[in-house]
Amino acid sequence: MSGEAKTMESRTIKIAILGLGNIGAGTVEILRRNGGLIEQRLGVPFELVRAADLDPARAKKLELLPGVFTTDAKAVVEDPSVQVVVELIGGIEPARSLILAAMENGKHVVTANKALLSAHWEELVTKAEEKRVSLGFEGSVAGGIPLIHTIRRGLVANRIQRVTGIINGTCNYILTRMARDRKPFAEILLDAQAHGFAEADPALDVEGIDAAQKLAILVDLCFGLSLAPGAITRCGITAVTPLDLAMAEELGYRMKLLCSAASERGEVEAWVHPALVPISHPLASVDGVFNAIYLEDDNVGPSLYLGRGAGALPTGSAVVADLVSAARDILSGAVSRMPASGARIRSQERGHLRGAGDSRSEFYLRVTVLDRPGVLSAVTGVLGRHGISIASVIQRGRGDGQEEAVPILVVTHEASFAEMTAAMADVDALSVVKKGSFLARIIPGTEDP
Ligand code: HSE
Repeated sequence: MSGEAKTMESRTIKIAILGLGNIGAGTVEILRRNGGLIEQRLGVPFELVRAADLDPARAKKLELLPGVFTTDAKAVVEDPSVQVVVELIGGIEPARSLILAAMENGKHVVTANKALLSAHWEELVTKAEEKRVSLGFEGSVAGGIPLIHTIRRGLVANRIQRVTGIINGTCNYILTRMARDRKPFAEILLDAQAHGFAEADPALDVEGIDAAQKLAILVDLCFGLSLAPGAITRCGITAVTPLDLAMAEELGYRMKLLCSAASERGEVEAWVHPALVPISHPLASVDGVFNAIYLEDDNVGPSLYLGRGAGALPTGSAVVADLVSAARDILSGAVSRMPASGARIRSQERGHLRGAGDSRSEFYLRVTVLDRPGVLSAVTGVLGRHGISIASVIQRGRGDGQEEAVPILVVTHEASFAEMTAAMADVDALSVVKKGSFLARIIPGTEDP
C-alpha cells in the first residue's frame, strides 16, 4: 500500500476496513502485494487510513501504521477523511448500522456480507441510491469469480433466463470427497472444518443457507425480484450418502448442491437442492472448493464462470475490484454511476415467486426398506397413486433373509416438487420403510454446442 508511506499532500483514495479477519487480512495483503500495479491501473494509490476490529491482535499481525487501528468502528464511519468503507465484519449487526451510517456520511461502501445483503437488500440499495454512493458487493457471491460485475456490466444488454450454479465451496468439497473416498458425510465435514473451509457454524453451509443467501442476491440482480432467503426452497446435503454419489455416477450423473433460479413470464422459480447433474453438463466436473455459475440469457445463450468461491485472497480480489470501481467514480467525479441494484428504474412489474411445489423436474429418490417380498410394489404403488411415473428402479444389496434394511433407488419422469414431497411423506409412513427417504432433483443436460 504505497499510500501508507506517502505524504498527506499526495492524492490518494482513503479507505477504511471494518473487520480484520480472514478476508480483511486478504484484502490488506493484495493492496500491499499488488499496490504498485493497482496504482498504475487506477492512477493513484489507496491509503488505508483506518482499520477497526475488536481484537487488537489481528491488527498487530498485519503491522498497520501507527494511528490506523482502532477498536471503535463507529468512529471510523464518522471519520471525515475516509472516502470508502469496507465492511468485512459479517453478520447482521453491527454491520448493518455501520454501513448505513457510512452511507449517511457520504462514504462509498464495499461489503462481502451475503447474510446482510440478502436480509436487508431493499434498505441498503435504497440508502445507497438516496445518498448517491456506490455499494460494491462482488465478494458476497462466489468469492473471486467476478460474477456481479459480469451481470451488471458485461451482460447488461441481455435478459437472463436462468442461473444454475455451485455457490457453496464447502458443500462441493464435501460431496467431491465423499464420492472419491466413499466416506460418510460426518467424517468429511470434519475434514472440511480442519481445512478451514466451512463457516464458523457449518449448518450455514451444509443446510444450504449460505447458498440461499447468495441466490437471493442473484435473483434480485438477474430478475429484479427481491426475495428473503427464507422464501427460497432449500434442502442441504446432510442426508447424502456415499451410495447416492456412487449411484449418481452409475446413472451418468454427478451429485452437486445446486442453486437454480429461472424467470418465465414474470414467474420466478428459485431453489437450493442436491441435484444430479448429467456428466456432460459443464457443472458436473466442477470439483472441490470451486464454485461455478452457468448463466443462460437471450443474446449470449449459455456462459460459464468458474473459480474459487471463498478464501482470503479470492474474496480479497473481489473486494479490491469494488474498491477500484468506487475509486474510479471518485476520481472522475461521477456520482453513483452504477446503481446498487443494477437498475436505475426499478421495474414496477418485478414478477412473483412461483410456489415451491410447482417446480417440475425428474427426481432421484432413495428409500430404505425391509428386504421383504412385496415391499417394492408398496413403494412404487404410493408413487403411482400420486401420479408419479417411474423411469427406473434399482434395488441394491440383499439381506440375509432376516429382513435387513436395503436401499431402493427410484428415478422418476418429470413430476412436480409438490407431488414428490407428498408421495415421500406417504412412502415414509409405510411400516416397511426404515428411515426417512432422500430426494434429489435431476437437471437436464445442455444443448450440444
Ligand atoms: N462457506 C462459504 C462456502 C464461504 O463454502 O462457499 C464463502 O461464502
